[in-house]
Amino acid sequence: MKKLALLLLLAGALMAKDYTKADRIKDMQIMAEAMSQIQTGIFYNNNDIVQDGALKLSDAVRRVEPPLEEREEKDPMTRYMNEKVKFSHKTTKKIDQKAKIILERFKNGDAQQAIQAYTKIMKQCMECHSQLRTW
Ligand code: HEC
Repeated sequence: MKKLALLLLLAGALMAKDYTKADRIKDMQIMAEAMSQIQTGIFYNNNDIVQDGALKLSDAVRRVEPPLEEREEKDPMTRYMNEKVKFSHKTTKKIDQKAKIILERFKNGDAQQAIQAYTKIMKQCMECHSQLRTW
């Protein structure tokens, strides 16, 4: 079980090799823009704007990877112990799932549920920032 977890971590590190700080900042800016777009769409009750924003958010959050120094930590046990890589993957996955909820709920006229998912995304953004931004 432990071996499998380590293998998965190493595979993830290999796949994420080319994701730079500049890439991450760009995706963060796209996500911030997508979030205001979703909010605008909700306020104006415009489904097209909400859908477009939620898709943009999903698209960007799937690319996000934690800072390089964390992924390149040589000692796999240290990486496993500090869990930050795992944490960030969990966070981005949650954001992606909530974006899908916004898409579905708003389309079906359930603005309340869409707003709730939106708020949860905000919380995930801020949680990751307080954990990772000051590395
Ligand atoms: C996986 C962790 C993580 C998640 C989740 C995350 N962020 Fe970030 N964010 C960062 C890090 C790390 C930085 C600092 C950029 C850097 O130095 O790489 C950052 C920086 C930013 C910036 C500043 C970019 C700049 O121009 O300097 C914005 C804006 C931002 N994030 C928005 C968001 C929004 C909106 C969300 C949620 C939809 C979000 N972030 C979710 C980790 C995350």
